[in-house]
Amino acid sequence: MVNRFEALHLEGICPGWSIVVKGETSSSSGMFEINLLCDPGDQIALHFNPRLSSSRIVCNSFLNSHWGQEEVNSTFPFKAKEPFQVEIYSDQDYFHVFINENKVLQYKHRQKNLSSITKLQILDDIDISSVEITRRALY
Ligand code: GAL
Repeated sequence: MVNRFEALHLEGICPGWSIVVKGETSSSSGMFEINLLCDPGDQIALHFNPRLSSSRIVCNSFLNSHWGQEEVNSTFPFKAKEPFQVEIYSDQDYFHVFINENKVLQYKHRQKNLSSITKLQILDDIDISSVEITRRALY
């Protein structure tokens, strides 16, 4: 298992793409993040950040060198060192996040230039067992 992953897909990973990450948290008090980044630069269209210490999922974007307003979700299906699956699917308007196949949140696109979102990054306290990036039909 690995605890850091990056993939680049120059055609863009949304809308119509689905990212499925399987893994487990590697620490009971830690956090991990799944970031969808823009090319060029260090902008983050979606920062998905489950924090085990507070049992909250924090989502945000880092655009124009600033974090925006956090969207905090208290539905928290993660348990320390238990396997999970996160799926992030994007359509024209939202990222839709499913955890263990249940819809947990949606996040309205703040980076409106969707074709610039080209990079997937996974960091921190997570043991990743697989990552799949697949094209899906738009719902
Ligand atoms: C900050 C944290 C960042 C990011 C951000 C999200 O406090 O340092 O890593 O999670 O919150 O709003």
